Amino acid sequence: MATVTAGYERITVNPIAGSMGAEIEGVDLSEPLDDATFEEIRQAFLEHCVVFFRDQQLTPDQHKAFGLRFGTLNIHPFVTPLEGHPEIIPIVKEREDKANFGGGWHSDVSFMVKPALGSMLYALDTPTYGGDTLWANQYMAYDALSDGMKDMLNGMTAIHSPSSQYAPGGESDRNNSKRKSMAVKVTEEAYSESTHPVVRTHPETGRKALYVNEPFTVKFTGMTRRESRPLLRFLCDHSTQEQYTCRFRWQPGSLAFWDNRCTQHYALNDYQGQRREMHRVTINGDTPR
Ligand code: SIN
Repeated sequence: MATVTAGYERITVNPIAGSMGAEIEGVDLSEPLDDATFEEIRQAFLEHCVVFFRDQQLTPDQHKAFGLRFGTLNIHPFVTPLEGHPEIIPIVKEREDKANFGGGWHSDVSFMVKPALGSMLYALDTPTYGGDTLWANQYMAYDALSDGMKDMLNGMTAIHSPSSQYAPGGESDRNNSKRKSMAVKVTEEAYSESTHPVVRTHPETGRKALYVNEPFTVKFTGMTRRESRPLLRFLCDHSTQEQYTCRFRWQPGSLAFWDNRCTQHYALNDYQGQRREMHRVTINGDTPR
């Protein structure tokens, strides 16, 4: 039996793992949220880094309305949105597709100058087994480092770019033939770069979190890619160890809302021959500091 987190009056908050993640009960997200309930959801989100809701029935407009309580909505620069809803990206893997979307540890759109605050993923169609998503707590990953490593990283920034995924010859270019169901733009615009601190301070909790990820962090500022590789490899391996993670089993109607400022996530691709369809709304964040 999960431990219920105390201090909530409008909602029930059940942690799903020791490191992060909690299921929230007692909320119908299709209805407008009163301020007290919204504030408790926000608190649970900040406390647990990813929160989950089950058995929701949301139209695209209701999904967006929930997202808009937390900030403005992102228009993904490379993924073709749902028709009539530029703020929603469909994440679909058809039965015959081999590749999935998000199948590697990352933080959403970290390549943007102002990357995502959070993402809300809503499940429409899920496989009978597999297709879970993993998250890793980047506060814990930072806290576990030695003082010497922390001191060094606190003075460093890194270059983030979408090029390995969305530029010609990148992951999406290779996957577009193995994934017919999603229209992902492959473009020279993906050679853009942004600079972010390697350790960021969360603007709402004040806690420090590691902020590098494998697909989008290209190198450290002032170093070559080759020089950056060993430390980047260490940080990416370190930050996604199982003791920092939680894992969520999807059902139609599940919604996950994660904080991209202090987590990474990984969509498992272990359901070949089955269909999975999700809608993602991404909330714009601030400049990492
Ligand atoms: C993503 O937003 O990276 C996809 C996550 C998932 O499909 O589980």
